[in-house]
Amino acid sequence: MGYHDSEHTKNVRDWKEVFDFLLQDPTFVPASPEPEDKEMRKLTNQWPENPPEFRAICQEYAQEVEKLSYKLLELISLSLGLPADRFNGYFKDHTAMLRLNYYPPCPCPDLALGVGRHKDASALTVLAQDDVGGLQVKRKSDGEWIPVKPIPNTFIINVGDTIQVTMDSFLLNFGQVFLQLLGDTFSNLFHDILKVWSNELYESVEHRVVVNSERERFSIPTFFFPSHCVMVKPLEELVNEQNPAKYKEYNFGKFFVARNRSDYKKLQVENIQIDHFKISNN
Ligand code: OGA
Ligand code: NI
Repeated sequence: MGYHDSEHTKNVRDWKEVFDFLLQDPTFVPASPEPEDKEMRKLTNQWPENPPEFRAICQEYAQEVEKLSYKLLELISLSLGLPADRFNGYFKDHTAMLRLNYYPPCPCPDLALGVGRHKDASALTVLAQDDVGGLQVKRKSDGEWIPVKPIPNTFIINVGDTIQVTMDSFLLNFGQVFLQLLGDTFSNLFHDILKVWSNELYESVEHRVVVNSERERFSIPTFFFPSHCVMVKPLEELVNEQNPAKYKEYNFGKFFVARNRSDYKKLQVENIQIDHFKISNN
């Protein structure tokens, strides 16, 4: 955890610097992706000494985003016809991580990406961004990359239909929270895990970040990851003869470690994706 600048997305180095910290310190994850290896690795935060107030501000922000994430999970659960707390158990020892992204100006913006195309491995991601812009989402109907316009004091959230929702301030300090919901285009929130849990009632969408030659850009995603021991699979309540499970179950911790390993080196193959767990004859 802490500062680093060498992350790769799909084998290409991202044009960015990041500072990562865990919401729960320490956090335990599997030591390796091998299924039979039971060893755990302890992850801890590395805080800089300066500026002195940095740590406390980051932690306060993270706590509020954590509350928002639970609220959103409850709403999603209700929208699936399930009890509000249906997902909570999966997050008891969550492995959530907050990232401060810094995208420096790039002399050749056509040749680089701030973050290459990807889907977040989280159940949900709460993304704050500044007014520079650069985030794009891939529209499913025609594969076109659509910019996500920054709106002040908003978080980016991804759900199904073309709707925009305004919510009153339930988040301390951030005034009005405006959930930007851009239908089948949208982006960053309800990602792979939700796609599996909901047996594809919620879809995750690919996104990427483009850079520009003039302005630096900052963004703050909080990745709400479940506990490492969670076995992710379509929820039983949502599976029946008409809607058979579309995914095999996978262990979140092992998946997470496999994904992370491949983020820092060039590989011969694309890194692991949830499609690897898709049941093929559906
Ligand atoms: C990410 C990401 C989007 C952004 O870090 O996974 O998609 O706008 N970031 O920085
Ligand atoms: Ni992302």
